[in-house]
Amino acid sequence: VAPLTRADVASAAAALLADGYSFHLVSHSAVLERLDTSPFGLPVVATDILGPRDLAWDAESFMRVYNRLNRELFGPNNLALDGWVMVNIGLLASAFLIIALPFARLEQMLGDGRYPPEQEARLRERLAPVLAAASELGFDGPIPLAGYSAAAMPTPGHWLGWSLCSMIPGLGTVAKGLALEAYRATTLTGVAQYANPALHVHRKFGRMRILKAVLALHPVPGTLVYQTDVYLDDDSEQTPTSRIRADDVAALDELEANIVSGRHVAYILPPGLDRDGRVPILETSR
Ligand SMILES: CC(C)(COP(=O)(O)OP(=O)(O)OC[C@H]1O[C@@H](n2cnc3c(N)ncnc32)[C@H](O)[C@@H]1OP(=O)(O)O)[C@@H](O)C(=O)NCCC(=O)NCCS
Repeated sequence: VAPLTRADVASAAAALLADGYSFHLVSHSAVLERLDTSPFGLPVVATDILGPRDLAWDAESFMRVYNRLNRELFGPNNLALDGWVMVNIGLLASAFLIIALPFARLEQMLGDGRYPPEQEARLRERLAPVLAAASELGFDGPIPLAGYSAAAMPTPGHWLGWSLCSMIPGLGTVAKGLALEAYRATTLTGVAQYANPALHVHRKFGRMRILKAVLALHPVPGTLVYQTDVYLDDDSEQTPTSRIRADDVAALDELEANIVSGRHVAYILPPGLDRDGRVPILETSR
């Protein structure tokens, strides 16, 4: 798996713009003025949720629809964005990078044959509650389809990634890549689950050192903490020392014991999560 580069994210994002998507940074002025609001030189709608309403559509409704999207994608697994977390942490302490598409263009894309019939039906089914929320709110702006948010950490350039979701394949990687660029993130600490295909997205951004292999305190089983120096330290050619099944509690506990004792430093190798549900791990002695 070739490592992802900034140029890859920039060109994937440009292709989305050409396809009719728009990019949004939603926060407030004190945060927005510290961010790069045109990552890769691309146009992003920067929205000040506390400021005057200067958009053709309602920004609060946009975030309500985003919240509905997020709940639909996460389902009942303890990870969906609570409304107050979205506001206090996501919008006031940081910024959401959201990818959206006008409703008419979304309808057009769903019907133009680009998705196989089964996938199209599944997308329509999952989009239905999101579109219903937009309709109930009388929202006529672009429909949020993916988003990412990270929180700033006390060390400059260090961010803590905490929410990624995407309805349309391909948007997840671009949402995360655009957000990291907007934040000017150099080091990313992330909380993720071994069994979640999102691990594939996270791993694309560079070497993933496991800081905590078993974060038992987290409400979702199989949660880990990792750190990535974004786009640096390519280790994609390394050979894994093990391939741990995402639900192999004993193997993960052993990995954790090796890390915590200082015996080993451990990394997740590409592709993050294999199609067979295993995670390639590289353990090395210090
Ligand atoms: C995880 C999620 C964000 C991915 O969004 P996406 O738009 O599909 O992501 P992308 O298409 O950019 O990238 C997904 C990658 O994972 C791969 N992938 C998809 N399903 C996979 C699976 N079951 N196992 C392994 N890899 C998988 C895709 O092939 C793609 O890789 P590629 O670009 O090399 O082909 C999206 O599915 C989602 O919102 N899930 C629910 C919310 C969630 O769990 N978020 C993560 C919390 S940390």
